[in-house]
Amino acid sequence: MHTTLIEDPLTEDPLTENDLTTTRAPFIEAAKGRGDMFIRQPHELYSDRNHEAWRQLYQRMLPKWEKYANHKFLEGIESLAINPDRVPKLEDVNQFLAPLTGFVAKAVAGYIPAYLFFDSLRRREFPTTITIRDLDHLDYLPEPDIFHDISGHVPMHTDPAFADALVRIGGVAHAVARQFAGRADSEEALRELTGTLRALSRFFWFTVEFGLMRHGDGVRVYGSGLLSSHGEIQHAVEAAKVQRQPFQLEWVINQSFEIDSYQPLLFVVDSFDHLFEEAGRLEKWALEGKLGNVAAGEPVVDADDLRSFVDGVTA
Ligand SMILES: [Fe+2]
Repeated sequence: MHTTLIEDPLTEDPLTENDLTTTRAPFIEAAKGRGDMFIRQPHELYSDRNHEAWRQLYQRMLPKWEKYANHKFLEGIESLAINPDRVPKLEDVNQFLAPLTGFVAKAVAGYIPAYLFFDSLRRREFPTTITIRDLDHLDYLPEPDIFHDISGHVPMHTDPAFADALVRIGGVAHAVARQFAGRADSEEALRELTGTLRALSRFFWFTVEFGLMRHGDGVRVYGSGLLSSHGEIQHAVEAAKVQRQPFQLEWVINQSFEIDSYQPLLFVVDSFDHLFEEAGRLEKWALEGKLGNVAAGEPVVDADDLRSFVDGVTA
């Protein structure tokens, strides 16, 4: 083992590194320890291994994006002038992004409660992870990283129609929180809120994370989970066994999903205006109480996320 370390200068003992590798970055642990959610991006802490992980991830996605990504995504990559060789600085990305749609990427220490996440979208702020997965495990993603967030999500935020749809999805969360204001202590209300959050998560999952868009006789990808996955992007578009269904809100909100395998079922929108309209229908159904009884199953709505909506009302 030690021979390998000496032969390859990039293979340092990761546990002694003070860099920004996912799940073992001391800077992030300290921020979490203080309870900080929004943080700065200490760009000087990225190690050579971190930059090399970015370079390899970016390099191997390029041909896949050209073949399978939605054209707005490809234009977005161009207009953000993302450096393919080094982990980008959020402030550089924002300099190009903000004038286009008002969106900015904002560094976070990790998980932020669901209400805060959606409410950030409503304010055109995208909570962005700053750590990057380990160079030796480019396909393994224990949690979102900066490659997923900056290369998968942010290029889509350059498109005004997509940005408006994202803001509208964030607006659904705000409307839901207001609806539950003052009655969050009743069991019935909490049950309805749980179902509503499950529906909202499913909507987000099958659109922003794993959405496909009609393109000629086929489809192209706009979902960020696919846009940042070297293996799944092709599978999503080409594998015969994947079901690709026209977007149906009734189905989406009742459909459970698993996060650790390739998605067997994906939904296709016609356009981002279509997505915007569907987000509007989601909000209407939420306000009518229709989402309280959606089918059980994944994702599990955890207590912190539920609490964040109850508390969010006062925001
Ligand atoms: Fe994501």
